Amino acid sequence: METIQPLNRTSFGNPANTGKVLSAEEALQLLYQWVENDRLRLHMKQVAALMKSWALEKEELDESTAHKWWLAGLLHDADWEKYPDDHCRVIIEELERRNIDPEIIHCIASHGPRHFGVEPQSKMDKMIYAFDELSGFIHAAALIRPNRYEEMDVKSVLKKLKTPSFAAQVSREDIQDAISRINYPVEDLITFIIEKQKEV
Ligand SMILES: [Fe+2]
Repeated sequence: METIQPLNRTSFGNPANTGKVLSAEEALQLLYQWVENDRLRLHMKQVAALMKSWALEKEELDESTAHKWWLAGLLHDADWEKYPDDHCRVIIEELERRNIDPEIIHCIASHGPRHFGVEPQSKMDKMIYAFDELSGFIHAAALIRPNRYEEMDVKSVLKKLKTPSFAAQVSREDIQDAISRINYPVEDLITFIIEKQKEV
């Protein structure tokens, strides 16, 4: 991620496109066209599922708003495989060309403030940042367990977070930063991710 250029933008999409979304089929088609790596596909689907569940259950948003959260999660890394040096810029421009709701585009743009230079503003922005970091970490922790997500407990995840050699590529600094922006206990956030993510 070190070669990624900041986006050098603060405004994304056109407010006139508010409410315009891709259907689930269109979004999955884009994902399958742009991303070949199964591991990355799964990561994107996991973040999408977390975003949608959170929107419905914790924010008590309606189905159409939760679909926007799902879309942002599903597509946030769509350009990572094909355009690693232009990660985030390419998918943002694609969604702008397709006249997609600016909230979704801003959310994708703010999923890595240290890399893209865009601060998470809305709750949706803050949650994608937190989920992106922690989802990948927890999946890495599940993969080394014989029973994967079964009986995985929060304490073991917290312990691994304090072990720098485990999933060393996952930035603990980013995780701390993401968590500090949401008003929710980290233990409960990890529990939520373990529960939802194992279904994906
Ligand atoms: Fe991601």
